[in-house]
Amino acid sequence: MIDQFSLYRGAALITLATVSQTHAQSAPKETPLSMVNALHGAFGEHHARAVHTKGAMLEGTFEPATEARTLTKEPILTGGSLPVVARFSLFAGVPDLPDNADGASPAGFAVKIKAPDGDDFDIENNQHNGFITATFDEFAVFLRALAASGPGVPHPTPVEQYVGAHPQVKAFLESRTYPASYAQATYFGVNSLKFTNARGESVYVRYRIVPRAGEHYLTPAERKAESGSYLHDELAQRIAKQPVVFDWYVQIAGNGDKIEDPSIAWPDNRKLVKLGTFTLTRPPADPETAQRLLLFLPGQPHPGVEAADPMLDLRNAAYPISFGERQ
Ligand code: HEM
Repeated sequence: MIDQFSLYRGAALITLATVSQTHAQSAPKETPLSMVNALHGAFGEHHARAVHTKGAMLEGTFEPATEARTLTKEPILTGGSLPVVARFSLFAGVPDLPDNADGASPAGFAVKIKAPDGDDFDIENNQHNGFITATFDEFAVFLRALAASGPGVPHPTPVEQYVGAHPQVKAFLESRTYPASYAQATYFGVNSLKFTNARGESVYVRYRIVPRAGEHYLTPAERKAESGSYLHDELAQRIAKQPVVFDWYVQIAGNGDKIEDPSIAWPDNRKLVKLGTFTLTRPPADPETAQRLLLFLPGQPHPGVEAADPMLDLRNAAYPISFGERQ
């Protein structure tokens, strides 16, 4: 399956594409706290993760690819093998959401590479190539419309009106996919980053994590026939027999690609460069405690890796608020 991607392996000169930042955003009105509260409004407040609440963890290792050093000087991505913890999750902020519910998609896959100096490298991805809205503020408008559309609200509900007025949100919701296994979906980082190598050359990138087991998505009838715990049951059975392996790539922006708008996927013919491989081999010894104490920081800067989309900085401040509420 990897052959379908155009892989960039060269040590050739890397140049910063003439990318588009015409979508430059004005300062956000929402704060990380107001956004966490908007998630609670939409999904409920339950002292668990504000979103991506139901999930399962695995542990294993990260092995960097040699190509990574053509793009970044980050030692975590250019050194030796390191331990990782990973968490798969359903999308919605509902602790007992059935795995086959509509709100389960896009499922999430987050990985923390444990650095020897404690400065961990975190990535959070989901299985849709593009975010539902262009900005942090617009996501809050969607969440508040969802919150105002509970049982008994007459049609068209506020969220139905919102979706009707936003064709791109409608397209996102209607094109969601539902994997047969957490280990058989491709996951996308969606927000752009700027990578800089040891020679000072920079590119804009987005993360893409590709399953070695191949992609497999369910038809609507197959999903309906699945149990409410099928993803979690399948993962437990799979990991008891074999490792779960993913290859981690970055997609490199080309001319005209939008850097600050995660709702627009970059064209499929953009180069992919491999950063490394995740090999997950076991669940944690105490899964409940491990999930509670796990915090991902999506926008944390590293040498040669910086956020290039303002949504990442805002996410970076929102996740610790939700983390604090669930301790
Ligand atoms: C405005 C945009 C976003 C906001 C406000 C937001 C907020 C949050 C919050 C508050 C959490 C819970 C954190 C915790 O309790 O530890 C979370 C978890 C998560 N988010 Fe986001 N998020 C946003 C966009 C995204 C995007 C674009 C992706 C992926 C492409 C993503 C993937 C995830 C994943 C995978 C988790 C679960 C992390 C875990 O397993 O602990 N989020 N998000």
